[in-house]
Amino acid sequence: MKPNDTNIYPVFERIAGRPEKEILLGQKAISIWLIGLSGAGKTTIGSALEKQLIENGVLTQILDGDNIRSGINRNLKFTETDREENIRRIAEVNKLFINCGVVTINCFINPTHETRNFVEHILGKQDIITVFINTPIEICEQRDVKGLYKKARAGELKNFTGIDSPFEAPENPDVTVFTEKSNVEESARHIFNYVIEKIKPTWKKKS
Ligand code: ADX
Repeated sequence: MKPNDTNIYPVFERIAGRPEKEILLGQKAISIWLIGLSGAGKTTIGSALEKQLIENGVLTQILDGDNIRSGINRNLKFTETDREENIRRIAEVNKLFINCGVVTINCFINPTHETRNFVEHILGKQDIITVFINTPIEICEQRDVKGLYKKARAGELKNFTGIDSPFEAPENPDVTVFTEKSNVEESARHIFNYVIEKIKPTWKKKS
C-alpha cells in the first residue's frame, strides 16, 4: 500500500460498493436538495415527501438544518465561511448515504451558488436533484414560525438570510414549488412525481 503525502490510507476500493447495495434495496440512490429561505417550508415538505417515498418502498434519510446544526455541525455559525463548511460537511455525509444506496432529502437554506458548488463538486451533478422551495421573503416573514425574522429586524440576530445575509435563488432547479399556490401534500407530490422514476425506474402508479 502506497501512502499519500498526508499519511492517510483510504480503503474505498475494498468496501462493498454502491451497486450491490442499490440492488439489495431495489432503488437508485439520489440526493434531493430542498433549497429556500428560513420558513419557506423545506422541512415540512421534506417530511411529507419522505412519507410518500416510504409508502412506495423507498429507504430515505432526511437531513435538516436545525438538526444537523445541533449535532455534527454544532460548532458552526452563520458567517459565509461557516455556511460553506456546513454545506461541505453535509455533502460528505450525503456521499456516505448515497454509497449505501439511500435516498437523502436535504432541507437546508444552502444560500449561494458557491455553497451549491461544494455539493456538486463532492457528489457530482448526476446524483443531485435541486428543488427550489420558492416562498417569497414577505411570506416567510409573515409566517415567522420560529420568531427569527422579528429578532433579525430588531437587530438581535445578525447575518440572517434574506435580511443581512445573501440568498441567491437557484438557477435552473429541476423542480420548483410555489408554496403560496400549493399545499404541503401537493408540493410533496409534485417533487415525488419527478424523483420516483429516477429512484425506481420500473415504478408504476397504483391505479
Ligand atoms: S445554511 O445557510 O448554512 O444552509 P441551515 O439550513 O444549515 O443554513 O440553517 C438554517 C436554520 O438555522 C434556519 O431555519 C433557522 O432556524 C436557523 N438560523 C439561526 N440563525 C440563522 C441565521 N442567521 N440565518 C439563517 N438561519 C438561521
